[in-house]
Amino acid sequence: MKIGVAGKGGVGKTTLVALLCWALKDLGLRVLAVDADPDTNLASVLGFPDAEKIIPIIQMKELIEERMEKKGGFFKMNPYISDIPNRFMEEYDGIKLIVMGTVKQGDSGCVCPENTFLKRLLHQIILRKDEYIVVDFEAGVEHLGRGTAEKFDHLLIVIEPTRLSLESFKRIYPLAKDIGIKKISTVANRIKDKEDLDFILSELGKDKLLGFLSYSQVCEKANQKGDFKILKKDIIYKEAKEIVKSLLRGG
Ligand SMILES: Nc1ncnc2c1ncn2[C@@H]1O[C@H](COP(=O)(O)OP(=O)(O)OP(=O)(O)O)[C@@H](O)[C@H]1O
Ligand SMILES: [Mg+2]
Repeated sequence: MKIGVAGKGGVGKTTLVALLCWALKDLGLRVLAVDADPDTNLASVLGFPDAEKIIPIIQMKELIEERMEKKGGFFKMNPYISDIPNRFMEEYDGIKLIVMGTVKQGDSGCVCPENTFLKRLLHQIILRKDEYIVVDFEAGVEHLGRGTAEKFDHLLIVIEPTRLSLESFKRIYPLAKDIGIKKISTVANRIKDKEDLDFILSELGKDKLLGFLSYSQVCEKANQKGDFKILKKDIIYKEAKEIVKSLLRGG
């Protein structure tokens, strides 16, 4: 199953991806996490040792030049890529991780070799069988325009009880539909009370909401300590497990 996690900047995408990965792993399933955000920090949240030393594949200029065979302004549209996921995969505590990165916002939309490389790489990754693949996308909508997201089984859009995050959801949703993603749901984050949840339900309707994570003070502690494993003892981990159950039931 291939799950993508999208949403506005700072809504909790990386936190949700980590919780989903842990919950899938605890069910005995094989998990591959993919960090596809230019500001990569999924490795740290998942507790990988020396996370900051992991170089995102997109920053490996020589590798990309070699595979793209850039000559005289032209480059390969079909580079050889199938060895890359295994070569650059990290593993910690039963979870595999590929830190892919992405082309920074200012350069996006370009038909540059890096974009072609990333698109092919993500397609290669999501062809992997017997693994639950969870991708942490960059904030916003750009990944949907690049042809990297359409092969997902389920796209989760993280929202919070704010107008801005719902506006962002309303931009992402039709784009995701347009590129043919089969299932698109939302996960509400930072829910403080029933009023927050009611606000979201009144804006979305029930069918699009897959689950929610409560506002968590443990998250703040985790940030302070740089130790996100403590989230596993918090209510939001139980809530994430419920989200996984719904995902496995088919959303
Ligand atoms: N339920 C929650 N309760 C309290 N704090 C939270 C919750 N979820 C996430 N946070 C905190 O909010 C901040 C942003 O979360 P996170 O990094 O997961 O968001 P993001 O969508 O991945 O951000 P970005 O767009 O920058 O990648 C982090 O400090 C995180 O610990
Ligand atoms: Mg993030």
